[in-house]
Amino acid sequence: MTVPTPSDRHVPVMLDRVVALLAPALQHPGAVLVDATLGLGGHSEAFLERCPEAHLIGLDRDPAALRLAGERLAPYAGRTTFVHAVYDELPRVLDELDVPAIDGILFDLGVSSMQLDEADRGFAYAQDAPLDMRMDSTAPTTAADILNTYSAADLARILFQYGEEKFSRKIADRIVRAREAEPFTNSARLSELVRDAIPQAARRTGGHPAKRTFQALRIEVNGELEVLRRALPAAVASLALHGRIVVMSYHSLEDRITKQTLAAGAKSDVPDDLPVIPAGHEPFLKLLTRGAERPTEDEVAANPRAASARVRAATRVREKGLVA
Ligand SMILES: C[S@@+](CC[C@H](N)C(=O)[O-])C[C@H]1O[C@@H](n2cnc3c(N)ncnc32)[C@H](O)[C@@H]1O
Repeated sequence: MTVPTPSDRHVPVMLDRVVALLAPALQHPGAVLVDATLGLGGHSEAFLERCPEAHLIGLDRDPAALRLAGERLAPYAGRTTFVHAVYDELPRVLDELDVPAIDGILFDLGVSSMQLDEADRGFAYAQDAPLDMRMDSTAPTTAADILNTYSAADLARILFQYGEEKFSRKIADRIVRAREAEPFTNSARLSELVRDAIPQAARRTGGHPAKRTFQALRIEVNGELEVLRRALPAAVASLALHGRIVVMSYHSLEDRITKQTLAAGAKSDVPDDLPVIPAGHEPFLKLLTRGAERPTEDEVAANPRAASARVRAATRVREKGLVA
């Protein structure tokens, strides 16, 4: 049997573009790059190779990812520091490492192919597994806890908002009815319930009918959007002058949070009709991407996971004026 290596298990998305956006900030002695979502270390490996003066701080909330990335990046020992953390803990992590400012930070959001492939973690709708979905298995709430305890209204809200599921109310009502007979434990029962709740005509489009429900539960289990809302301003605040931030999202709500955070920094905080911007109120970011950049058709054909990727980037142009 061949054991898959990390590079077989997760193909880094928009790799060359991400490196081109961040590398200009990392080509000097002592440059520090934070990979906030280390995963299997695919992007980080390219940075360590192409930016020989940079030191990497790699964060992940999943201890399994940290272990595999650590093995992959062993040839760069001495230029790497790995930390088990949720990325909104960045200020504390930098404090503990005595790093006052960073030159680059990458967020490649969502789950890795490794997490989707490990059936027993319950991320995948196509395999029967315990309904877990925690990226960090020491976290308290699983997908089963949410299904078995949330009200129908709360379930419908998360399915609609995080899964963009048109039949959210129908599915939520069925979940509540089904759990009265027996609590949810496994993914196959949920997949089947969702398929049955969706009208036949709607089942033909949009991929597997349970895909949106599973995505919504994963986002809720891991508090993904609240964490991102806290993390991005903190990341921008940690950037040194000319430091760069790159964010790759896979969901419209992630992309909206990113767009708003970067746009707020790229705009002065005084009213538009003031003739002169007072000192200290100039924008502190400059956008490096026009709107969101997308992968090429060739990349999507080779790596379907790239299909929904959107990249935004900015650079710090003023030292003071931290975001709230
Ligand atoms: C898409 S993968 C990253 C893949 C990586 N860029 C590569 O090339 O191998 C996302 C990773 O981020 C981690 N992650 C997701 N949300 C996180 C958070 N809030 N804090 C820390 N890590 C997070 C996941 O556990 C996963 O390993």
